[in-house]
Amino acid sequence: MHSMPIRTMQFGIDADEVKKDHLRNYVEYGISMTFPHLEPYLIRAMRVAIKDISDEKLAQDAKQFCGQEAQHYKQHAKLNDMIREISPKNSGLQEIEEQMAADYKRFLATKPLKFNLAYAEGFEAATSAMALTYLHNGVFDIENPTEFQRLFAWHLTEELEHRTVTFDVYDHLYGDYFYRLFVGIYAQWHFFRYVDRFAKLIKDNDPQPQGQRVTFVQELMIKCAWYGRVLRTYLPWYNPKNLKIPKSHNRHSREFSEQALDEREA
Ligand SMILES: [Fe+2]
Ligand SMILES: [Fe+2]
Repeated sequence: MHSMPIRTMQFGIDADEVKKDHLRNYVEYGISMTFPHLEPYLIRAMRVAIKDISDEKLAQDAKQFCGQEAQHYKQHAKLNDMIREISPKNSGLQEIEEQMAADYKRFLATKPLKFNLAYAEGFEAATSAMALTYLHNGVFDIENPTEFQRLFAWHLTEELEHRTVTFDVYDHLYGDYFYRLFVGIYAQWHFFRYVDRFAKLIKDNDPQPQGQRVTFVQELMIKCAWYGRVLRTYLPWYNPKNLKIPKSHNRHSREFSEQALDEREA
């Protein structure tokens, strides 16, 4: 089997739990809301790029990337339906979703492939940094994870599996460091601004405004570790294939393969 297998997963996320835990999870909910818009955009850009890839292995990796991303946004779309149901005021999410979808439609229609691939790599570099931060903090190793936590652990495990693909495709077709750097930073600003807007709306529409997500110090430590890893992706010698991946990553990959309903190659 390919090292980036396309797993069909099943998560039994409970809508009542999504509602109950939303003050704890509103940032993750904000991230989840973006995926049915972002990931189809990444796939469409990659499908255009595949036609120009002359390296057979890289072309296959790109197909596996598309297959994994397609599974991700389908699973997140189910969660997002539950997030919309948390509060009637969450109908406001639709307006933000429409703006995000319009942005990606415009990028595909008006921007060169080089831009769309550099955007994709900007996002993927930040996601790999996030997945590594979680791995190092043992977030995927908690005992008896909820189905919601399993969904994120599976998604980030696969993000690490395919961490080299957008970098390698961009490098294969263009290899222009400064363009990738600037578009990548723009991509991170563009994407996380939407995450922030979704998360704020979900938090502010809290039907029971009480409790606290994590302590200020915990949040600061996680953010510093993640930002530090993102900053390292801006260096000219950054290459995701050289990232030090904790051994636990292989175990998570194996476990998710065992749990998958189906696993295939593109
Ligand atoms: Fe993904
Ligand atoms: Fe990805």
